[in-house]
Amino acid sequence: MKLIIAIDGHASCGKSTLAKALAKTLHYVYLDTGAMYRAATLYFLENGIDYNDPRAVEEALKNMEMHFERVDDQNHLFLNGRDVEHPIRDLRVSEHVSQVAAIPAVRRAMVALQQAMGRRRGLVADGRDIGTVVFPDAEVKIFLTADLDVRTSRRHLELAAKGIDADWDDIRRNLQARDLLDSTREDSPLKVAPDAVVIDNTLLSEEEQLEKALALVRAAQERLARQTPS
Ligand code: DC
Repeated sequence: MKLIIAIDGHASCGKSTLAKALAKTLHYVYLDTGAMYRAATLYFLENGIDYNDPRAVEEALKNMEMHFERVDDQNHLFLNGRDVEHPIRDLRVSEHVSQVAAIPAVRRAMVALQQAMGRRRGLVADGRDIGTVVFPDAEVKIFLTADLDVRTSRRHLELAAKGIDADWDDIRRNLQARDLLDSTREDSPLKVAPDAVVIDNTLLSEEEQLEKALALVRAAQERLARQTPS
């Protein structure tokens, strides 16, 4: 019985770590929806397109082709045939992505692609509107959060591991600004779906948060098994 698992939550709170671990354990597909908004942002920035101009945005969306491919056992996003998995994580993209993700035309295009990718179920998706808009019928919905300073330190460490020496305060400001924009925008704001379970992982290890999520998956599978006549 293949489910859809939706993980929403604040910036840099470990959504992708949890989503990847769940996908690996359950042999499900992992869908990183944030990567898609980041790739659209990269496209606008690299091509000098003003994303505040609705006509330019519509035109640009027609020229973007995105898909995921396995590279070194990881899901990489390809934009018009180019592997953009690394450039989409740059701070410059992070500084613009919440503005781009607030544009209704961009959201419509990305949500349509995401829903097509989830048609066969057996998928873990993370983002901001997964349980509310993209897959409102997901059997498991998790809203993940953690203390802002803890999230900043984790992100700082993650960038340091990649050899990027970013300023701690700049990262904190970026996370705070994105959370504010993502949760106050008009179109599909980040919010807790009524049927989501909130997990605060400030004091949890990766193993502990995975265990909690797997318990929710098992409960959903049992619920479905009871509902399905044998
Ligand atoms: O998860 P992330 O940090 O890679 O996401 C980048 C940005 O994209 C985030 O600040 C908000 C936006 N986003 C969104 O609006 N909806 C999603 N489903 C995923 C991401």
